[in-house]
Amino acid sequence: MLIFLLLLLLTGLFPLPSTAIYTPLREYAGDSFFSGWDYYGNVDNTTLGNVTYVNQSTGVSQSLTYVDSITGHAIIRVDNFTNIPNASIVNRNSVKITTKEAYPVGSLVIIDAWHIPYGCSVWPAFWTLGINLEWPQAGEMDIIEAINNLGVNQYALHTSSGCSLPSPSSNSSSSILQSGNTIETNCTSTFYSNEGCLVQESKPNSFGAEFAEAQGGVFATQLDVSGIYIWFWSRSNIPAAISQANSSSKMDISSDWGTPTVAVPSSGCNITQYFQAQQLVLDITLCGVWAGVQSIYSSSGCSGQCIDNVIGAGNPTYNDAYWDIAYIRTYLSDTVTTTNITGNSSSTSSISTLLPSSSAASSGNDANSKRVAAVSVPVHGLLWFFLLTLFGPTLILGW
Ligand SMILES: *[C@@H]1O[C@H](CO)[C@@H](O)[C@H](O)[C@H]1NC(C)=O
Ligand SMILES: *[C@@H]1O[C@H](CO)[C@@H](O)[C@H](O)[C@H]1NC(C)=O
Ligand SMILES: *[C@@H]1O[C@H](CO)[C@@H](O)[C@H](O)[C@H]1NC(C)=O
Ligand SMILES: *[C@@H]1O[C@H](CO)[C@@H](O)[C@H](O)[C@H]1NC(C)=O
Ligand SMILES: *[C@@H]1O[C@H](CO)[C@@H](O)[C@H](O)[C@H]1NC(C)=O
Ligand SMILES: *[C@@H]1O[C@H](CO)[C@@H](O)[C@H](O)[C@H]1NC(C)=O
Ligand SMILES: *[C@@H]1O[C@H](CO)[C@@H](O)[C@H](O)[C@H]1NC(C)=O
Ligand SMILES: *[C@@H]1O[C@H](CO)[C@@H](O)[C@H](O)[C@H]1NC(C)=O
Ligand SMILES: *[C@@H]1O[C@H](CO)[C@@H](O)[C@H](O)[C@H]1NC(C)=O
Ligand SMILES: *[C@@H]1O[C@H](CO)[C@@H](O)[C@H](O)[C@H]1NC(C)=O
Ligand SMILES: *[C@@H]1O[C@H](CO)[C@@H](O)[C@H](O)[C@H]1NC(C)=O
Repeated sequence: MLIFLLLLLLTGLFPLPSTAIYTPLREYAGDSFFSGWDYYGNVDNTTLGNVTYVNQSTGVSQSLTYVDSITGHAIIRVDNFTNIPNASIVNRNSVKITTKEAYPVGSLVIIDAWHIPYGCSVWPAFWTLGINLEWPQAGEMDIIEAINNLGVNQYALHTSSGCSLPSPSSNSSSSILQSGNTIETNCTSTFYSNEGCLVQESKPNSFGAEFAEAQGGVFATQLDVSGIYIWFWSRSNIPAAISQANSSSKMDISSDWGTPTVAVPSSGCNITQYFQAQQLVLDITLCGVWAGVQSIYSSSGCSGQCIDNVIGAGNPTYNDAYWDIAYIRTYLSDTVTTTNITGNSSSTSSISTLLPSSSAASSGNDANSKRVAAVSVPVHGLLWFFLLTLFGPTLILGW
């Protein structure tokens, strides 16, 4: 009886990721990797970097996106072959792509990457953006994001008011819940005050040259009614359930995944309230409202001015500014009770949302399916501007 009560108490105090079996929904990999994404094809008008995000035809013709013929991995890169003159307006070509599908609460997203873009002025992100509601009401999860020569990955959530991470001051519970270091607990973000909540990776080799030298690793994100949980494993530590899986394997997250880096239990954040189905986004910007802020730029291992990297040959400055991705796999929990999130036959702006009863074939191929970019304005980069104002670069960078 005592043990039972103790267990009950522990479960209540330290909610763990829900153990679940997941069924594969879709794999982005190999020759078909890029067919599941839309290219942004515009200047960076959200994080204000000095890049032009190319359209698909330019991305393909200039080999800014391609599938490596030897490894079969998807490569997404910054132009490192064009000489950009020192003019009043400086923009270098880069890439931002967004999945045609959105993944609802109940989903699991696993990315296996061998290289994440890094170097002075470089700001890569792998993140998700909720559909159908104006940002940030549908939620945003930043899964891989750091800048310049930082060697540590950071995770952030952006929501409307009322979603929080557990307080890191309750030491014992936080150490059981997650292994990462919580920097900010309040996930609330607005256009004018885009703090968001923030957790720093505590495991080695999560970003930069060290990530690449360790042959990369895997990030897994569980978007569940019970909470949001994110894991990172360097290549040599990837659990067998993942390293031995193929695209059609079911995924059992209870097996050998260990403690997640990030744990956002629903007790502090009603997931179904703050997160709609999420599109996946991959991008690389240069400078902008985080990497390019002079004080942050200088304190993250870089000298001079950010824009001076963008000017000139681009080689060797941007030779490491590329993603190398073995695969991105998405799954849906076997136990999730699904509702039709798209659910609006009169809507012309819906993104196909993958649900178990709708086959993968029905999504993304619809010529009429259009992005809802007009109502979904990601400004995750502004986080840094405001955090800087609030806390100064020392805290943000953890230096
Ligand atoms: C960015 O540009 C696109 C295309 O012109 C536009 O649809 C979008 O609203 C713009 N976003 C912002 C934040 O200005
Ligand atoms: C893609 O971008 C290039 C360069 O801006 C432009 O010339 C071309 O017309 C665009 N292609 C499409 C299909 O929009
Ligand atoms: C770099 O981009 C920012 C944001 O768009 C812009 O304000 C700035 O003028 C750009 N710098 C140059 C040299 O083009
Ligand atoms: C751990 O708890 C102690 C006592 O409550 C507090 O002083 C300390 O700042 C906490 N440490 C962290 C990392 O939260
Ligand atoms: C989180 O931040 C928002 C916006 O600044 C504020 O309104 C809210 O009260 C904060 N929540 C907590 C729990 O501090
Ligand atoms: C995945 O692995 C299973 C079990 O080893 C095998 O039966 C199946 O054919 C594999 N599927 C693919 C797409 O390789
Ligand atoms: C969480 O949000 C959902 C959807 O808005 C709502 O139906 C539910 O009652 C909320 N749960 C709690 C505990 O507030
Ligand atoms: C670009 O021009 C400005 C103004 O003349 C100068 O300060 C800066 O050093 C130049 N940058 C490069 C990379 O040549
Ligand atoms: C661009 O970088 C790649 C390595 O990522 C390198 O192989 C290539 O030679 C570089 N291009 C130029 C023009 O230097
Ligand atoms: C969801 O709703 C859309 C629009 O009404 C419909 O086309 C689609 O078939 C529905 N999907 C499922 C799985 O019911
Ligand atoms: C369905 O789509 C129409 C047209 O886009 C829109 O006016 C309506 O508000 C949508 N209804 C719901 C429930 O989303």
